[in-house]
Amino acid sequence: MGKRRCVVAALAAIMLMMELAALTVAENRRSMLSNGLGMTPPMGWNSWNHFGCNIDEKMIRETADALVSTGLSKLGYEYVNIDDCWAEISRDDKGNLVPKKSTFPSGIKALADYVHKKGLKLGIYSDAGYFTCSRRMPGSLGYEEQDAETFASWGIDYLKYDNCNNDGSKPTQRYPVMTRALMKVGRPIFFSLCEWGDMHPAEWGAPLGNSWRTTNDISDNWESMISRADQNEIYAEYARPGGWNDPDMLEVGNGGMTKDEYIVHFSLWAISKAPLLLGCDIRNMTRETMDIITNKEVIAVNQDPYGFQAKKVRMEGDQEIWSAPLSGYKIAVVLLNRGPVRYSTTARWDDIGLDPKTVVQARDLWEHKTLKTTFVGNLTATLRPHSCKLYVLKPIA
Ligand SMILES: *[C@@H]1O[C@H](CO)[C@@H](O)[C@H](O)[C@H]1NC(C)=O
Ligand SMILES: *[C@@H]1O[C@H](CO)[C@@H](O)[C@H](O)[C@H]1NC(C)=O
Repeated sequence: MGKRRCVVAALAAIMLMMELAALTVAENRRSMLSNGLGMTPPMGWNSWNHFGCNIDEKMIRETADALVSTGLSKLGYEYVNIDDCWAEISRDDKGNLVPKKSTFPSGIKALADYVHKKGLKLGIYSDAGYFTCSRRMPGSLGYEEQDAETFASWGIDYLKYDNCNNDGSKPTQRYPVMTRALMKVGRPIFFSLCEWGDMHPAEWGAPLGNSWRTTNDISDNWESMISRADQNEIYAEYARPGGWNDPDMLEVGNGGMTKDEYIVHFSLWAISKAPLLLGCDIRNMTRETMDIITNKEVIAVNQDPYGFQAKKVRMEGDQEIWSAPLSGYKIAVVLLNRGPVRYSTTARWDDIGLDPKTVVQARDLWEHKTLKTTFVGNLTATLRPHSCKLYVLKPIA
């Protein structure tokens, strides 16, 4: 009997070891990109939304300066990301990408050094195709290892990898080639898959990248912004530290939306654990833009260590409730009025995962105040058209 039990125990131990080994393999497979980056959503700036192809090294340096002088870098905005159009149309005779001589005469390495000296990080852009989307520079298809080595040698910290002008093969065939190339060069480079959500990259992006676009490009208007938030929400389950859904970069400060709409934009991106990549001209921002993007409490929701992406927990016509658990037993809640008229909207405890009897303290993150009364069962707010409230709820009994 004793011997038998011993055999059983030994067998159980062996099976447990095999299971652990299988788990380790699964874990390795889960992440081909073990670069340790993106434990919270990346924060920084990207040139595309405001400048398109009109970029040069002077304005990139000035943007880095402005990120520091405005205090934005202290709040976590660290990446300075150059988008499309930074290179010559032809590679050199060794097949290397060449920074565009007319706009980046000092080269990208010099820019990386400049940015690093300020405590910031430099991002760059390429494409899993023969040309980038602008068609003004080559893509990296077929040159993945060479380009990854070039980026690493320059001191690049972030790569946005677009999907234009490819060979017709699936992104699931082309993106892993760059993932492997980046791993091979050894430098930790945040890898942003910009596949536009066509093939549901949330379902396969986690082992390959630190973020994956779930949508087509955003434009600076309410319809575009809100529809990107909607498309991105579908994949909430897939977001976690190390890999994030990406509904595209921020338009706050570019002038196409009202203040309330930009607050909705920033609130939804924050609670959705989206990358907070500013897309305005950092050198020339209004007070209003600064107030929105420097809201520390809203940034803290985005950067919460748990990394749970908010889900819509109630939708009634134009009224929606989005919520996500935060660390410390707190809950972030957005009450959103998408409609054209004022409306009174209610967040109910049973929708957001609280026991109906829980007594809650509510912090209004845009008013920067804790509401005087406590709440049981629900919380109601009257919302202007195209506006929202963002609360952090803290159970106190
Ligand atoms: C600064 O921004 C304002 C709008 O807020 C714009 O009218 C002005 O042209 C901008 N200045 C520069 C130098 O871009
Ligand atoms: C909110 O809760 C209160 C009780 O605390 C209840 O009287 C009221 O009907 C609730 N409102 C909604 C809209 O659920």
